Amino acid sequence: MPDSRSQAKSELIAPSILAADFGRLAEEVKAVSDAGADCIHVDVMDGRFVPNITIGPIVVEAVRKATTLPLDVHLMIVEPDLYVGDFVSAGADIVGVHVEACPHLHRSIQNIKEAGARACAVLNPATHASTVLGVLEDLDQILVMTVNPGFGGQRFIASALETVQTLRGACEARGLNIDIEVDGGVTPHTIGTAAAAGANMFVAGTAVFGAPDYAQAIAALRAGVA
Ligand code: DX5
Ligand code: ZN
Repeated sequence: MPDSRSQAKSELIAPSILAADFGRLAEEVKAVSDAGADCIHVDVMDGRFVPNITIGPIVVEAVRKATTLPLDVHLMIVEPDLYVGDFVSAGADIVGVHVEACPHLHRSIQNIKEAGARACAVLNPATHASTVLGVLEDLDQILVMTVNPGFGGQRFIASALETVQTLRGACEARGLNIDIEVDGGVTPHTIGTAAAAGANMFVAGTAVFGAPDYAQAIAALRAGVA
């Protein structure tokens, strides 16, 4: 059953702290929370699954203290099952694992749910929609990458929207109300095409934290959805 917030506005904007000033992280998280964000997206990278290293559970714990918004934790790491419990204990509400990193995806999803979080399967731009059709009923959320993961500030890969469209169609055909999120290169100019393809959750790093006024930046993204 949708809560009153999601009834009021169907699109959910998730600023990615990857583009925030990490020296003032708590302040930055509070600022986007006050500016109208719907949840906070946290990018965890291990230098193995992706060619970059970012943060771990202790930073998620710090972010948890700075906001009451849901924390959407995107694990770009190998063997994510080993760390799901630590991230949920640190305050993650949603945990996303890459299907490319999970040979036993069904088990990985159950692990996330048993740890007490909402389960999200993440697909790289080159990964076919069919990889999650077998677990669709088990998922709370799907994240379709619209850049190759690893860095903020990259250009939107429009061909990934075919995956969004296929998965939204599959959800509708099965009567499933799953959040479909896009991540990477989301701006007021690209967000409309992602929404039209069936996405309802939008991660934005540079488009929010790179703007002088966070409230204006989030409002511009919402306006781009319509
Ligand atoms: C990329 C990350 C994204 C990134 C998005 O690997 O998963 O969440 O922060 O940044 P922008 O919005 O700048 O493309
Ligand atoms: Zn991300």
